[in-house]
Amino acid sequence: MTGMLRAALVLAMIATPALAKEAAISSKPIIIAHRGASGERPEHTLAAYTLAIEQGADFIEPDLVVTKDGQLVARHENDITGTTDVSSRKEFAERKRTKLIDGMSHTGWFTEDFTLAELKTLRAKERLPLLRRGNTKYDGQFEVPTLREIIALAKDASAKTGRTIGIYPETKHPSYFASIGLPMEALLVAELKAAGWDRADAPMFIQSFEVNNLKALKQLTPVKLIQLMAAEGGPADKTHPSYAAMATADGLKAIAAYAAGIGPHKDMVVTGDGTVSSLVADAHGVGLKVHPWTFRAENYFLPSRLRKGINPAGHGDMAAEIARFLDAGVDGLFTDYPYAGVEARDRHSRRPAE
Ligand code: G3P
Ligand code: CA
Repeated sequence: MTGMLRAALVLAMIATPALAKEAAISSKPIIIAHRGASGERPEHTLAAYTLAIEQGADFIEPDLVVTKDGQLVARHENDITGTTDVSSRKEFAERKRTKLIDGMSHTGWFTEDFTLAELKTLRAKERLPLLRRGNTKYDGQFEVPTLREIIALAKDASAKTGRTIGIYPETKHPSYFASIGLPMEALLVAELKAAGWDRADAPMFIQSFEVNNLKALKQLTPVKLIQLMAAEGGPADKTHPSYAAMATADGLKAIAAYAAGIGPHKDMVVTGDGTVSSLVADAHGVGLKVHPWTFRAENYFLPSRLRKGINPAGHGDMAAEIARFLDAGVDGLFTDYPYAGVEARDRHSRRPAE
């Protein structure tokens, strides 16, 4: 390429926003291992994250909750009844409680009533034993990991593989934890600082279904933030009447002031009958990345047109579902089956240009 041609191309890129935007959108979509390779190992265990990394995931996703002594650990919710052996542990029987969390009553055992040392004596178990029977053979084997251990795992794996393995933590129930004197945001930023990841180009995103804690994080850290959205309802911190309102053009513009992207429920991007909404285009129009959740192979979770057979635990055509979303232009996606996500993404990127 001659110097003059190169200069002309650079000028065209600068002068034509559409060109620059197209380049960003066509970059490789990221595969986020949802709770690790949670289709094949009990979720949120180092074993699940390790398998996800071996399967080629770009990011591993820990949902974060807080212990009594202010440590961040990976669990999908602070109620650990369904994902650990706590209910069978006699020494913790009197810790059973009923609590109101985000407006809903929960009865069980909660991370905020355990020190990290106590939590470490528990062992993880499969959340969905009826759908993922094969995973139950790992019940009782793995600890509840800390955020620090997960960051160390990602760094170690990056060094060993030569790939960059990122983390994609979600702050769970941030308003609730603040209300009981265990605010999460400063704890998270302190962990990132200790890891040297409190920077804009750190291999990570921080996600939340709430709004105010993302805005608070925006003031505390340059790490990229993702606004999660559910298909129904609205944020627990009541900043908006609904996620649907947040997904409008005005809503997305407001999100772009504090976040780098959105993590919508997949039905907000492609409906069950395969219709593509305007959400990806609208979000890209205001510079937001789009990372929908959650792609699961079991018939139980797939739209009827993609199921194979009638066994809810049988696997349907998740690859076709993912391809549809990649066609729609998503920038990444959360999946319980990272190997299949990577395979579908790579197949899609090799397809002939239309
Ligand atoms: O964080 C994306 C997705 O994981 C949100 O749903 O309930 O699986 O944390 P959940
Ligand atoms: Ca999550």
